[in-house]
Amino acid sequence: MPATVILGSQWGDEGKGKLVDRLAEQATWVVRFQGGNNAGHTVVLGEQVLKFHLLPSGITRKECNLILGDGMVIDPWVLDHELVNWNESSGEDPRGERLFISERAHIILPYHRYMDSLDKKIGTTGRGIGPTYADKINRIGLRFGDLAEVNGDLQWASSSSERMNASLEAAGSLERITADSLLEDVKWICDSFSTSITHTGLMLDNALKLGENVILEGAQGCLLDIDQGTFPYVTSSVTSRGNSTHGAGIHPGHVDEVIGITKAYITRVGNGAMPTELFDEVGNHLGTVGQEFGTTTGRKRRCGWFDAVVMRHAHRINGFTGLALTKLDVLGGLDEINICVAYELDGKEVREMPSSASALARCKPIYVTVPGFPSHSLSEWLGIAKKANKDGTGFKALPAAAQHYIKQLEVLVGVPCTSVGVGPDRDATIDSAE
Ligand code: GDP
Ligand code: IMO
Ligand code: MG
Repeated sequence: MPATVILGSQWGDEGKGKLVDRLAEQATWVVRFQGGNNAGHTVVLGEQVLKFHLLPSGITRKECNLILGDGMVIDPWVLDHELVNWNESSGEDPRGERLFISERAHIILPYHRYMDSLDKKIGTTGRGIGPTYADKINRIGLRFGDLAEVNGDLQWASSSSERMNASLEAAGSLERITADSLLEDVKWICDSFSTSITHTGLMLDNALKLGENVILEGAQGCLLDIDQGTFPYVTSSVTSRGNSTHGAGIHPGHVDEVIGITKAYITRVGNGAMPTELFDEVGNHLGTVGQEFGTTTGRKRRCGWFDAVVMRHAHRINGFTGLALTKLDVLGGLDEINICVAYELDGKEVREMPSSASALARCKPIYVTVPGFPSHSLSEWLGIAKKANKDGTGFKALPAAAQHYIKQLEVLVGVPCTSVGVGPDRDATIDSAE
């Protein structure tokens, strides 16, 4: 059985957690392949709201094995906290049983968090992501597979803490690392996670050979990709399809389905241009009805109209086989809906995203306007979704104007919608009947 990739196609928070939890019912493995606890993935099961930063969203399915893959950067203290929360709600400790950490994944240490807290330009999540990837690229980072070797090694701890302190001082931080604290940290990480650290790429390769179903769970979104996003206002990893297998330690030939998740509008947290950003009543409507606050930092998300230029860019990079549209319910109650089809840049119409941040900031959206549809309560939407899936009516269960909107997006992006989200609950998703 081949692997399925689930990717954010905008600036993150498209609803990856919800979709992965839903699809994981049929999966044997769910794998995170990049990023770290900058991610915040939400799964809503009735009254229960679960937020995952490092644990793959398939943890909700007891039969599912979980991998934190080669391309990740992992804060062990955040992972431990998440595991304690999971243990309290489920009674399970999945470490070494069904949760495995790649020996190639890099470790976020207090030093990396201190460095990240100095950021004033990008609006990072402050979780140490960029500094940890920087150490990886500089080939001085610490990996889970190296822990056993450095555990108790005072010489390593002294030279590492000296290097860290020189960087902290040069960057203007007052924080310092001691060799003793570094050794204590390494010992605690070894004691806490040694049963889970393993060659996860090999495990996955064997699982795929046995025909098991693998989901590769993306974090962030295409426009936050270090190469293909809105540089420099991006995260520090490759968030796209090309890295999904690489970051999991398997080859790209395993993938046949790539689902791009997209909100029915668009949001962004942190700095950098977003051409369709709204500063008016509609923007307030999207933020309030959509409860657009960051899952990791609680920051207010900036909201705007759906941007087909962004989506075409994301499709070119990722080759989506299907789109999972989310939060369509949030548009309910608006008289008219705008869709951005191109930009005006310095008096000329452009249909592709410029690579320069300053040029993107000068882009003005060109819209087509389509009719809106009525609002419903979340329980009404949930009822509509359940009935549609039971009767197999697909999107026909939606108001005519909503169906028209979905069709427009499919045509503009050139990819069919495989599902439409109409509420946060696991079951508030309508599957396509086609
Ligand atoms: P992720 O990072 O891509 O997993 O997304 P987040 O969890 O950060 O943010 C998505 C938010 O939207 C969460 O609060 C979800 O519970 C919620 N959500 C997901 N799909 C829908 C939907 O179709 N409708 C509504 N109203 N909320 C949704
Ligand atoms: P999920 O997986 C939304 C943003 C930050 C900042 C930029 C760089 O939940 O979709 P970083 O801490 O990664 O160095 O910050 O990237 N960012 C996200 N925005 N959702 C996320 O993850 C994000 N992860 C990082 O706000 O603008
Ligand atoms: Mg999120």
